[in-house]
Amino acid sequence: MLETLGLELLRAESPYGAALENHCIRLAELALALGTHQDVEMDEDLVRCAAYLHDIGLCVKSHSQPNYLKRGLDFARPHVQRWGVQGSDLKVFDEVMLYSHSLRRVSGMGPQAEMVRIAVSVEHSWGALSHGLSGATLQKIFSSHQRLDFSRVLWEFAKTTLLDDGPSQLFGIFFPKAPQTL
Ligand SMILES: [Fe+2]
Repeated sequence: MLETLGLELLRAESPYGAALENHCIRLAELALALGTHQDVEMDEDLVRCAAYLHDIGLCVKSHSQPNYLKRGLDFARPHVQRWGVQGSDLKVFDEVMLYSHSLRRVSGMGPQAEMVRIAVSVEHSWGALSHGLSGATLQKIFSSHQRLDFSRVLWEFAKTTLLDDGPSQLFGIFFPKAPQTL
């Protein structure tokens, strides 16, 4: 249910089509595989929804918040609350939205969001950083959801981050302090 709603919202807001959609699906698959590998109990529906929306702040045209992570949460949070996400599940969602691009583990961050954060490094290293996932698992995930022109999407993301948000936001994206709020 959440998975479907998250994907529909991504499709409604993203100008990047299947390239971004496949990236988000790969991220969800990698996070769930990492959860299995590291014995972390994962709420699959919630984790998929959060993974599908983790880059939504790079899609919506809004300047409601100073960087795309907070902008994404600002945009997506009312939707997921309307879909019934609350309490500890909402905390997981917030953590994925705010910390998935952190280059180090964030103090106080829960294990489900941590699986998504390290899945980002697997995804962007194209499996060179595996965090223990087997070659067969990586091959299955990467081949099932093709990269298409995701490199062009990343270039657009870089432009949005540097030109719209500004370089001063980068440190807080890669090395966020917790807890963050909107
Ligand atoms: Fe992403």
